[in-house]
Amino acid sequence: MGRIQIAPSILSADFAAMGAAVEKLEACGADLIHCDVMDGTFVPKITFGTDMIAAVRKHTKVPLDVHLMIVRPEEKIEEFAKAGADILTVHAEACGENTARALRAIRGCGMRAGIAVSPDTDEKTIFDSISEADMVLIMSVYPGLGGQKMIERTLEKAKSVARFLEKQGMVRDIEMDGGINEENIAKVKASGVNVIVAGNTVFRSSDMAKTIRLLRDGDEK
Ligand code: DX5
Ligand code: ZN
Repeated sequence: MGRIQIAPSILSADFAAMGAAVEKLEACGADLIHCDVMDGTFVPKITFGTDMIAAVRKHTKVPLDVHLMIVRPEEKIEEFAKAGADILTVHAEACGENTARALRAIRGCGMRAGIAVSPDTDEKTIFDSISEADMVLIMSVYPGLGGQKMIERTLEKAKSVARFLEKQGMVRDIEMDGGINEENIAKVKASGVNVIVAGNTVFRSSDMAKTIRLLRDGDEK
């Protein structure tokens, strides 16, 4: 399993002060900055696009972990690369049989490629394209909103992906996204997840650095 990385989601940040938000995340030790792009079609909410990625890019050196909750994501890959995304994750539900091609295109633009599955999508549907990905994103909430409760059954999906990767002798990051907090973090890690998205838990904290350390290290160092 790769090293544990904490990826706070800026969906929970103050959109009127996003530059300051990412500077604070960097100062508080975030390993990645999770950027939730939503188009109002793949999910009901609209958040932001490449202009926001380009804007926050100027405020931090922390890798930008961009999560595309959009339809036809393969059409936007180059634009997000130009905007400064380091990791670009597309949804299997949006790509369908174009998944492997989309992942290759992401890597072709110099980014790390992620493939995401929503809670009701069988993780086995991505097994034939997983070799083209650097990371698998298991949604532990239904995409489209921050601050939801984790859907516990998705932990089994992470275990299934971890088992498959081990059997194939493949090393990939496994990211979990949604509803993760200090209470359930141990279960998340135990399921083979090593990249942890946390929006609400981090941004509602009175001590963001301490919360990030707790999520990463499990106890207060
Ligand atoms: C939901 C997003 C998640 C969400 C995580 O569609 O993909 O990244 O912002 O936020 P929390 O940690 O608040 O559930
Ligand atoms: Zn996300």
